[in-house]
Amino acid sequence: MKKKVIRVLTIFILIHAGFIKADAQVESLAPGVEKISSGIVDKFTPYSFCEELPLKTALGELPAGKLPFNINDIKININNRGVVVEIPLDDKEQLYGFGLQLGSFNQRGLKIRPIVNDNPLNDLGYTHGPATFYVSNRGYGILINTARYATFYCGNTEKLSDHNNAIPSTRKDGNSVQDLYQNDNQTSSNVTVDIPGAKGIEVFVFEGPDLKNAIQRYNLFAGGGALPAIWGLGIKYRVKADFNQQEAEKMAAYFRNNHIPCDVLGIEPKWQTAAYSCSYVWSKDYFPSPDAFIDSMTHQGFHINLWEHAFVSPKSPLYQPLKNKAGNYLVWNGLVPDFADTAARKIFAGYHEHTFVKEGISGFKLDECDNSNIAFGSNAWSFPELSQFPSGIDGEKMHQLFGVLYQKTIYGIYKKLNLRTYLDVRASNDFASSYPAALYSDTYDHNQYIKMILNSGFSGMIWSPEVRESNSIKDFIRRSQTAVLSAQSLFNSWYLRNPPWLQINRKMNNDGQLMDNAREVEADIRKLFEFRMSLIPYLYNAFAMYHFKGIPPFRALVMDYPDDKNTFNLSDEYMIGDGLLAAPLTEKQDERTVYLPAGYWYDYNTNQKYQGGKQYSIKPALNQLPLFIKEGTILPLAKPVEHVTAGEVFEITCYVYGQGPASATLFEDDGNTFNYDAGAFNTVQLNWDGRKGKVVRSGKFKHYNYLVKSWQLIR
Ligand code: GAL
Repeated sequence: MKKKVIRVLTIFILIHAGFIKADAQVESLAPGVEKISSGIVDKFTPYSFCEELPLKTALGELPAGKLPFNINDIKININNRGVVVEIPLDDKEQLYGFGLQLGSFNQRGLKIRPIVNDNPLNDLGYTHGPATFYVSNRGYGILINTARYATFYCGNTEKLSDHNNAIPSTRKDGNSVQDLYQNDNQTSSNVTVDIPGAKGIEVFVFEGPDLKNAIQRYNLFAGGGALPAIWGLGIKYRVKADFNQQEAEKMAAYFRNNHIPCDVLGIEPKWQTAAYSCSYVWSKDYFPSPDAFIDSMTHQGFHINLWEHAFVSPKSPLYQPLKNKAGNYLVWNGLVPDFADTAARKIFAGYHEHTFVKEGISGFKLDECDNSNIAFGSNAWSFPELSQFPSGIDGEKMHQLFGVLYQKTIYGIYKKLNLRTYLDVRASNDFASSYPAALYSDTYDHNQYIKMILNSGFSGMIWSPEVRESNSIKDFIRRSQTAVLSAQSLFNSWYLRNPPWLQINRKMNNDGQLMDNAREVEADIRKLFEFRMSLIPYLYNAFAMYHFKGIPPFRALVMDYPDDKNTFNLSDEYMIGDGLLAAPLTEKQDERTVYLPAGYWYDYNTNQKYQGGKQYSIKPALNQLPLFIKEGTILPLAKPVEHVTAGEVFEITCYVYGQGPASATLFEDDGNTFNYDAGAFNTVQLNWDGRKGKVVRSGKFKHYNYLVKSWQLIR
């Protein structure tokens, strides 16, 4: 005890004497994962709430990692401002990550502040999903375990001491503006991280050997990537915010009568007696018989997802139980539950379990758990950073962690009941890879939406580029293609009375004036949705790889081709699983360039073969998916179903791309529980030896979900 006091005192005195280099300790946590700690670490950090244990066996199966620098070269300094961490960086290194960034992709040379916000502006680092985690194409990842607002200078600072030591010979003197810009921002041999107010820090180091391996290690360390319920990979449609029970039922009937695939119906705010803040009580005016509604929807093969946020209205039965377990500021007159406290999470979860989940609600949309600290005046909402919570966490840290803690609270219910789900959430943070929750946004820039698909993969996040109204049919179809080629296909009609494919214009849609060609657009959308349904077995396997191996199902090309310079800044095309490459187009494009990496590739629509390592100009028609398949891939496409039922048997056609042998795997389990954790799954190996196809099944799951009907060669 005495010793401890002396140690703390020493640090205290030194801090106030000025700048110290703190003694750092390095600890190995799992194969290829190290932690460096120094000083007095905050009680509330992202890692302190990490949901799951590391998947150590899978971590051990990765090739041995190696850092391109000595781990002791990571410097931690504690001074009277806070903590500064410096991580070595070489001249050629490219950096990625920091969560769900909207604007930037390659982060080299940038100053990034990954701070949670609902309306990210100016590409400064604000995002729904901030992460204090980045990865390098030299094959490692660095995570600063802090929930404070930290700033990362990614090789763009210039230190006097470094300047005296070595001035790169290529460097110009900076006499003119032109010289200044020609210096290419390569001014530092460090990433420098500023964490004001901290008295100590933990730095997690994820080794490669390559970029993808480093990300795999991060995801596996966080418990493995999320494996959503299989029905979550179908189409999700959210009805208008003020729809009542009858209107929601009518919309459900529209889908089934017109044979438009849909698995999930999302119900928006008005289902509750109070929404801003929330009562979590069905409104008798809008939904007079919720049980009958859930039963009838379930019977028709829909899963129901309920909108809510976490600010608890005085009208809510949760208000009294949470009153002493909430922050000292209100939001929309509602309590902010202290989700850092297990007891508060338990109260919130217990109520949801009994009132909703056990009554058949399959998922929730966890809204408003970000912040609006850069909105103007009265538009700003949420609790201030200076808030205090009974657990001891402050408003700043609570903001960064609120989305993750909310996910933890709600996902915990499903795990307890051995039921899988697929949630929507508007904020996330570090170590959240295992949460089956798709981030979404009120922003609506298609280019940014595409970039976020790539960026989500660097930080263990899932991104859902939703579709709402559109400027033109072209805009609508392009956006819909992106949605179908993403982790969650979401059509969010929360302010549209009719589906957007019947009227893309918001006002006319709500006035009931459908487009003249509404039925044609509907037919195109049906086809697109059917494609999504065909892709489910392939996607489901990609998610299983995310869970068991940590490989993001949607990822930037630099992850698979880290040595190919042409991929370093490629932020508008991405891999889906191992064999598909998507290159979406936006409204403004009739034509775009696509870079195809080494190997041969096939156009999904025309089967035209392309030699990789080159850039091509492509001009897909509006009804053609911007998709390429790598030679040696078997693409297993299922006969589309309108929704996925329990025990579904998908009828598969295997499309074999290329002359030689090809292979693919499918993941087979009940799709709905965590029994796979106890080994109740099969690996279905699809093999083509150049002449014939073979299906080899191994594992303990007793049923068949996939029936291979035929093989088709594409050469
Ligand atoms: C927003 C959310 C929208 C919709 C709306 C309902 O905050 O991002 O998707 O749910 O609330 O009021």
